Amino acid sequence: MSQNVSLRQWTESDVDSLTKYANNKKIFDNMRDMFPYPYTLTDAENFIKRVSGDNPTKVFAIDVDGEAIGSVGVFPKEDISRISAEVGYWVGEPFWGRGYATIALKSIIDYGFKNFDINRIYAIPFPSNSASQKVIQKSGLKLEAILKQSMIKNGIIIDEYIYAILREDWNAMQ
Ligand SMILES: CC(C)(COP(=O)(O)OP(=O)(O)OC[C@H]1O[C@@H](n2cnc3c(N)ncnc32)[C@H](O)[C@@H]1OP(=O)(O)O)[C@@H](O)C(=O)NCCC(=O)NCCS
Repeated sequence: MSQNVSLRQWTESDVDSLTKYANNKKIFDNMRDMFPYPYTLTDAENFIKRVSGDNPTKVFAIDVDGEAIGSVGVFPKEDISRISAEVGYWVGEPFWGRGYATIALKSIIDYGFKNFDINRIYAIPFPSNSASQKVIQKSGLKLEAILKQSMIKNGIIIDEYIYAILREDWNAMQ
């Protein structure tokens, strides 16, 4: 595991690295449609403005040697689902396969359970996203449900895989 990776706040000076790494069809293909493609400098500026306003912080830059190379966030839901939070993340392609997503996901799970009044953290990787499912399993989430033909991405109807970790299971890992 690399020691030079950490989570930190997004800052305005990250716009160039954010645009460079986020503007990637292979990343867009595995994200919700709200993630832009092409990913422009304006998208990066708007994203950083939006996430910088959160208190407590919900979205962090994945920092490697001082450069923001990816993003990870925890998003508590609303109303009666407020005890559940979804996690999302991506890593810049030049940095894939170095364990950074796994470090980032484990860190945001710890942060989420410590800082929000939530009971469950879940992730929804696309069925074809084996790398992300590996990251999710290595971080202690378990496959809970498969909702058949629940989502559409790039014009293709896909199943919704729901992986989750409960606070009691996270506590047991501490
Ligand atoms: C998925 C993603 C976050 C993984 O980031 P990463 O930093 O490379 O992940 P890690 O190195 O921590 O772990 C990846 C694991 O998947 C494995 N893997 C990679 N490609 C794989 C594939 N095609 N099939 C199966 N496993 C694969 C790796 O071997 C590694 O497992 P290991 O540590 O047991 O060897 C990154 O590829 C990405 O940003 N993809 C596009 C956006 C995305 O998918 N976001 C997640 C949405 S749920």
